[in-house]
Amino acid sequence: MAKLKIRMERRKIDNKILIVANWKMNPETLQEAMVLFKHVAKGVKDIKEVQVVMCPPFVYLNHAKDGPLYRNTKVRPLQIGAQDCFWEYRGAFTGEISPLMLKKLGCEYVILGHSERKNYLKETLDMIEKKIIAALRSSLIPIVCIGEKSRGEQRKKEVESQLRELLGRIEQKDLRKIVLTYEPEWAISSQKGAEPANPEEAERTIFFMREILCDMFGESIAAQIPILYGGSVDHKNIRTFIREGKAQGALVGSASLNAKEFIELVKNAKV
Ligand code: PGA
Repeated sequence: MAKLKIRMERRKIDNKILIVANWKMNPETLQEAMVLFKHVAKGVKDIKEVQVVMCPPFVYLNHAKDGPLYRNTKVRPLQIGAQDCFWEYRGAFTGEISPLMLKKLGCEYVILGHSERKNYLKETLDMIEKKIIAALRSSLIPIVCIGEKSRGEQRKKEVESQLRELLGRIEQKDLRKIVLTYEPEWAISSQKGAEPANPEEAERTIFFMREILCDMFGESIAAQIPILYGGSVDHKNIRTFIREGKAQGALVGSASLNAKEFIELVKNAKV
């Protein structure tokens, strides 16, 4: 495993840090969304070391990518992602959104398997696996959330079984296009009593995830899959998750809804 660790360190330096803004079901109006998007776009435009991916609700995606805002603010394009997609491409699936539609709209990423969808909508690992495959076939990069329900001993078991069930049947050539996020459910800010994982905990789990990936696919692929951290990340703790936690970026919920806070977070991510 020592060799794997050395390669991981090198890769982190060579690659950009990825910061993903997960707006969840916010804000309430298009106008507010446009203001937030515009401020963030301006605030992060000169930070070359960090790639920012904005994931607004579906209804704002079109405005984020091709709307007047995007054309008028002559800034480095932010990348755009969705917060979910369906596993079919077209047809009679009321209320669902096809990964092909997202791709055609200009999305590059899609968050899949978020714990809020597992808990409130009963999304299963089987459903999430189908979504990962459909996203990959639509040339979207899936940001796959992995994490245990509560803090404690069962962490390794839960993380390992999620990884094996979600990635076990993915074709080798597609594995390099996946981004993983270690996001313990108990650390998500909307949970009662939530607190961020400490950086050592995050590092241990991220390293454990890489050991499992190594066992599943070999060292070379295991070292190439970026692993982010998610759960109560803010402008104050982002640096420790990247430096000490060895995360290659972060999935950010509530702190991404305040432009000032989020811009500061992105600045602090370039370690
Ligand atoms: P949080 O959310 O940053 O508000 O904890 C993260 C997430 O749920 O993706």
